[in-house]
Amino acid sequence: MEIPWVETYRPKTFNDIVSQNIAINNLKEFVRNRNMPHMIFTGPAGTGKTSTALIIAKHFLKEEELDTNLLELNASDTVRIDFVRNVLKNFVNQSLIKNGSLKFVILDEADNIPGTVQQALRRIIEKTSNNIKFILLCNYINRIIDPIISRCAVFRFVSLPKEKIIDRLKYIVTKEKLKIPSDKSEQFFNHLFFISGGDLRKAINTLQMAVALELLENLDINEILRISGFLDEKTLNSLISVLKKKDFMSSKEIFDSIEILDSRNFIRQISEVLPSLKIEPINLVNLKTYIGEIDYRISQGADEKMQISALLATIIEYIQI
Ligand SMILES: Nc1ncnc2c1ncn2[C@@H]1O[C@H](COP(=O)(O)OP(=O)(O)OP(=O)(O)O)[C@@H](O)[C@H]1O
Ligand SMILES: [Mg+2]
Repeated sequence: MEIPWVETYRPKTFNDIVSQNIAINNLKEFVRNRNMPHMIFTGPAGTGKTSTALIIAKHFLKEEELDTNLLELNASDTVRIDFVRNVLKNFVNQSLIKNGSLKFVILDEADNIPGTVQQALRRIIEKTSNNIKFILLCNYINRIIDPIISRCAVFRFVSLPKEKIIDRLKYIVTKEKLKIPSDKSEQFFNHLFFISGGDLRKAINTLQMAVALELLENLDINEILRISGFLDEKTLNSLISVLKKKDFMSSKEIFDSIEILDSRNFIRQISEVLPSLKIEPINLVNLKTYIGEIDYRISQGADEKMQISALLATIIEYIQI
């Protein structure tokens, strides 16, 4: 099987990391002074947190030390604190720590670690020797308990801007010697960016999938939208037109006919077209607040179809004919 491009093109040095200038410049300073604090990297998915953590660890460790001096744990490994204690204890004791040689613990998805386990982790972090550095990775820092935050230097990773994502995609296109029909190239990259929502991993994966499915030759953008769980342009346009007519039943019919439904993508697409509908500015604000609630409910496991139906009905209610 082909190696995923997100791995092939994972940044190997600080200079390969796109954007994130504030975080990277500060990190470079810590690295230069060989004075590492415990760290938290927080920010949206696919913005370079894991890549940066690995770059730091590899900066201090030789290839042959990676097995013994780098421990990567996932939130699902940390559900039971006795397991965490054992793993960490083994890690610390494994091979005597030579003078000054650092060890790194990378805790991925730290915001999914239960609060009680975080409390125990905090004591472990306090007690470990100076040679062990924790790097916690998370999307939502408000889910990390304060006592941990206050023991770490926090670095914020931001969503990548459109031109940076497109530049990186073009770089990969060149490296992989891909042929993209020039008349559709701009539209193609714009859509890859739209699909990614600022997540470079998603952008790269979508590009690779389009290649694997041989969609590049004729470059059918609608097919790429569909396989990524978005409405193609035709369906989106018919949806807009029935919404404008305040025709709830037809809007629901269109919605029910979607084969691959990703409700959160659907919400993103709908949000983007709202300004083109005839809705009072104050109601547009109300709608956006409501959309935020719906998105949250779905993320918490509420019934997607029910939530989207309610959303369509609410949009129709606000539309002026
Ligand atoms: N800032 C960036 N610069 C260059 N490449 C990046 C950047 N962010 C993401 N990528 C690309 O996306 C892939 C995923 O990045 P990474 O694993 O570092 O994201 P992450 O922030 O840890 O995401 P998650 O929160 O989902 O774990 C990388 O292999 C790389 O190809
Ligand atoms: Mg990550």
